[in-house]
Amino acid sequence: MVDFSGFYKLSVKERLERVRLFANLTPEDLSLLQDSGALDLSVADKLVENVIGAVHLPLGLATNFLINNKQYVVPMAIEEPSVIAAASKAAKLSLPSGFTASSDDPVMIGQIQLVNLPDPSGAVSLFESHQNEILAVASDFLKPKEKYGCKVLGVSGQLIDTIRGKMFILFFQINVGDAQGANMINGTLEAVSSKIREIFGGQIRLRILSNLAIYRKSRASAIWKRSIVGEDVIEGVMDAYAFAEADPYRCATHNKGIMNGVSSVVVATGNDWRSIEAGAHSYAAFLSTYRSLTKYWIDKNGDLVGFIELPTAVATVGPAINSSPTAKTVLKILGVKSSSELGMVLAAVGLANNFAALSALSTEGIQKGHMKLHARAVALNAGAKADEADLVAAILSKENDFSTANVHKILSRIRPQK
Ligand code: HMG
Repeated sequence: MVDFSGFYKLSVKERLERVRLFANLTPEDLSLLQDSGALDLSVADKLVENVIGAVHLPLGLATNFLINNKQYVVPMAIEEPSVIAAASKAAKLSLPSGFTASSDDPVMIGQIQLVNLPDPSGAVSLFESHQNEILAVASDFLKPKEKYGCKVLGVSGQLIDTIRGKMFILFFQINVGDAQGANMINGTLEAVSSKIREIFGGQIRLRILSNLAIYRKSRASAIWKRSIVGEDVIEGVMDAYAFAEADPYRCATHNKGIMNGVSSVVVATGNDWRSIEAGAHSYAAFLSTYRSLTKYWIDKNGDLVGFIELPTAVATVGPAINSSPTAKTVLKILGVKSSSELGMVLAAVGLANNFAALSALSTEGIQKGHMKLHARAVALNAGAKADEADLVAAILSKENDFSTANVHKILSRIRPQK
């Protein structure tokens, strides 16, 4: 593995040089990364409506990730201090084996809603006798994308009871290749609509993908050795995990900590973080009460095994990514070859962030590590300049007083008197 230890102690310029060498970045990539306003307003104006500016987030790199024996440095876009450090620390503690990860094929679900059916009780048999015809129309629509591995894999139908009466719902399963799939699925569903109306009568309402992407999950596991992390961390993480499994109030925060890592990689790679959040939390409640996305157990050697599984409907191609020059550079740094590989990285980062948070929460408390890093934001917020922030933060941590008044006192001590 290329050694990234102490990466956080380098200057931004030195870090850029290190990552340039690691990921073979071009001068254009470097200038994009250094331009914190890299999204041109004329491009922004074409992406969404009524544009008046752009919002920027810090982009950092989590280090020490070894996933299926491949080294990754993981770009994370996030405003919250200590998340990147936490992921890096947990990944370091998982070495030398690192993470084992896998992903399903990129299969998404699309749904068509039929209401006001003339004969709801006959809908299932009508569906069964026309299933192949429906599949043929949908497949025809996707033909031009077959070269990218996109394919309609199947369709099923189900009559459901709702507060507005019986509805017939068609579920399409579509391999969307390396795309996120929303446009491909919605386009296919709309293309097949007139055939569906012809077969069933009634009225077609929604034609939309489902973010509960249960066929497009990724999973990762890691072993944190007792000899490295110690007894207290292992027992502490097990207690924290048990708490989350038993209590939805705690579980929401537990899963939020996982998504700290996952969503920041999703944002950095130009992907749709709302769909990932929706998928993760709905999966956590799928078929049971709301549960932890991670699982932990102690193996026969007394080491801690962590496991995560969650839907990862992300893309490595598509208009949103192509129109964001930074996302393309981020994907280059990450070095992923497919959306499935990106899903594996997301799973590993989510597990790492969860392990780090549970270790800290169950032992020394979250404030010590988090506040040490948050102190720089506190200092800036209270009036310190960027080149004063590190010093002020160090003094705030030493004095364990993170108040605005203390920042002012420190600034008056360290600034040259006029
Ligand atoms: P530490 O013990 O000071 O770290 O931990 P260390 O000195 O042992 O360093 C180990 C490695 O961590 C380093 O390796 C770095 O990779 C990384 P090295 O490079 O030295 O070979 N590392 C850093 N990376 C970047 N910047 C840094 C840095 N320091 C260490 N400054 C740490 C310090 C903050 C990592 C630890 O206390 C920790 O993991 N705390 C947990 C923080 C956390 O989870 N934050 C998330 C925000 S809180 C939240 O919203 C989620 C929550 O609600 C979720 C939940 O409830 O479950 C808590």
